[in-house]
Amino acid sequence: MKRYLYAFLLVFCFAFIPSAAQEDVEDKVEGLMSRMSLDDKIGQLHQIDGRTDLTKVCEMIRRGQVSSIMNIVDASVIDSLQRIAVEESPSGIPILFARDIVHGFKTILPIPLGQAASFDDALIRSAARNTALEATEIGIKWAFAPMMDIARDPRWGRIAEGFGEDPYLASRLAVSVVKGYQGDSLSDELSMAACAKHFVAYGAAEGGRDYNTTYVPVRSLYDTYFPPFKACVEAGVASFMSSFNDNDGVPATGNSWLLSEVLRNEWGFTGMVVSDWGSVGGLIPHGVAKDKKEAAKICLEAGCDMDMMSYSYLNHLKELLAEGSVSMEVLDEAVRRVLRLKVKLGLIEKPYTRKTSESVIYSDELLQTACRLAEESSVLLKNEGILPLDEKIKTVLVTGPMADAAYDQMGTWALDGDKAHTITPVEAIRGNLPPDVKLIYANSLDYPRDKSSDGFKALKKAARKADVLIAFVGEEQMMSGEAHSLSNLHLQGQQSEMLEALASTGKPLVTVFMAGRPLVIASEMELSDAVLYMWHPGTMGGQAAYNLLWGKANPSGKLPVTFPRNEGQIPVYYNHKHTSHIAKGTEGNLDKVPREMPQSVMGHTSSYLDVSPTPLLPFGFGLSYTTFELSNLRVETPEVRASDSLVFYVDVKNTGEREGCELVQAYVGRKSASTTRPMKELKAYERVSLKAGESRTVRLEIPAESLAFCRKDLSWGTEPGNYILTVGTSSEGGMMLYFELNN
Ligand code: GLC
Repeated sequence: MKRYLYAFLLVFCFAFIPSAAQEDVEDKVEGLMSRMSLDDKIGQLHQIDGRTDLTKVCEMIRRGQVSSIMNIVDASVIDSLQRIAVEESPSGIPILFARDIVHGFKTILPIPLGQAASFDDALIRSAARNTALEATEIGIKWAFAPMMDIARDPRWGRIAEGFGEDPYLASRLAVSVVKGYQGDSLSDELSMAACAKHFVAYGAAEGGRDYNTTYVPVRSLYDTYFPPFKACVEAGVASFMSSFNDNDGVPATGNSWLLSEVLRNEWGFTGMVVSDWGSVGGLIPHGVAKDKKEAAKICLEAGCDMDMMSYSYLNHLKELLAEGSVSMEVLDEAVRRVLRLKVKLGLIEKPYTRKTSESVIYSDELLQTACRLAEESSVLLKNEGILPLDEKIKTVLVTGPMADAAYDQMGTWALDGDKAHTITPVEAIRGNLPPDVKLIYANSLDYPRDKSSDGFKALKKAARKADVLIAFVGEEQMMSGEAHSLSNLHLQGQQSEMLEALASTGKPLVTVFMAGRPLVIASEMELSDAVLYMWHPGTMGGQAAYNLLWGKANPSGKLPVTFPRNEGQIPVYYNHKHTSHIAKGTEGNLDKVPREMPQSVMGHTSSYLDVSPTPLLPFGFGLSYTTFELSNLRVETPEVRASDSLVFYVDVKNTGEREGCELVQAYVGRKSASTTRPMKELKAYERVSLKAGESRTVRLEIPAESLAFCRKDLSWGTEPGNYILTVGTSSEGGMMLYFELNN
């Protein structure tokens, strides 16, 4: 017994002794701190935009007033500014060069919402690593990504930048990006610091209107909006970005409960927090600070370490310290967090851009990975036997404003993407069609908002010569992203009318969407024989489109976000609460409402008179060119201890004629709990690739601790009781069984 006790004590002691590496970092940080003046320290908390008069930037650097510079992407300029910081600034501390690198740097990947549809953690991590290789090659060492705001409102333009509506999926994929960017070590020259943003609940903006106020109560923060951020802290994310919004009356950038109590005291985050653009000064329009001096005090004391572009810290911290309004300890702690990141990145020893013998930018390997991710991100929503196109197709009409939209195909936040490198659908089809297949490319709409129907007559004439019609529709990249919310989610311009014109010819119609959000597409789906949703698929989207349409690749994407039937349904999402009047799903036929009926509550359910309460397309939905069958769901044991995991098995068979990949999804729900709980929540998923006719038994685990939630008394933990496990290939349907969770 004594032996075990000694072993325990030894492990216990070591657990609290900082590793040599940690000690080395702290020694370096303290060494830097000891040589810094107050002005030097304040300068380390200031981030500026490099898209300005560089003469002024050099002067600020020489005065030690610049810690980080955003948006310079020329290696020679980066190195020249760095040399001034190292050789001419008072402290000689290098600058941290940063950029919004959200889904690729030069090789643009599908938008994150599209990547989420792949449910492919490994591929996303690999693609993110490639992005780090490209960005660090020109000297960027800090990327403002991954964005992991849970979004349940497609009116919100920034739904494009995150991983959709589910906390579990967003957690896994945000961690994949963090690991891709940061690699095994931040000091690796190929690594760059990631940034978990926007903390927090920015996606809950009222009305889906960007920057709008949010009201997310504590329980929902913990259950829905916190999980991806907490997962990234556990994965070692180097930095956080506070969000613009106020939640329940407190702007995130000045919220000490959020930035100190939760992030640091509860979660143990030791990295650095940067504000969003000007969001320190944003406390003034929010109405909680009378001036930038007050805003600086509130935000620094709340735990926001670096001030992005508001100049509040630079211009007011010295005065606040002199008058004793802010303590030196608070300032020093913020400076240490900034210096710790620079030391961990190896900037002190290696401040300049790494030398590479051969550039990786746009390398074949990176382009192929981007193509595969674009394929896996695409979701087949409908297929009435027309796809994949085969050798019987001898003449193809390609049309639509997104058929050759090299710039828009890259999507929002593709700052460094070069449209000259984009492979568009028409280019890929033209370049890959067999010689005996004729391509007719006839475009009647120059861009998605084009209101002209002049070309429809000629388009229909051309369509009548083809065996199949492929229309690429959607939205320009500027229609989603920051400050780009929409109240109307239907196709803009004359796109729907164009599809009607095409459908009127009676030819098979394949509609491919390229968009930054779920659009309202019920009528377009009706008109089409097949529908493929590619989101904004990035540089290689055209090649991916060809590969999918002609069956070189089999669609495997699943929806990471619910598609509404119309805007009036929003918010509509799968992990909704039961309510006391659970909808049947059959409601919503306005014509069935009797005339002059006596006062009645109709179906007495949570539904609408004029539209079904169910979505057009549910979370987790997606088709394949083959079919799969799940059977024989069984658990290792129907009783699980809170310290264990639920282990279960399901047999998956490819019952179709070709190889494909199915996503096995496991959801957990509860019959009762101390609070109202979602009908079901995604708790495990696995991609299963099978040849035609092949079967496999899949083993999945759900740790009991992943069933923890913010309980009625606001404590975090699990509750014993009866749980429902549903396993299927979408958030709707599937096989069910019950299990008990014991304490
Ligand atoms: C923007 C965005 C944020 C971005 C930052 C720097 O306003 O909200 O996501 O990282 O400013 O460009």
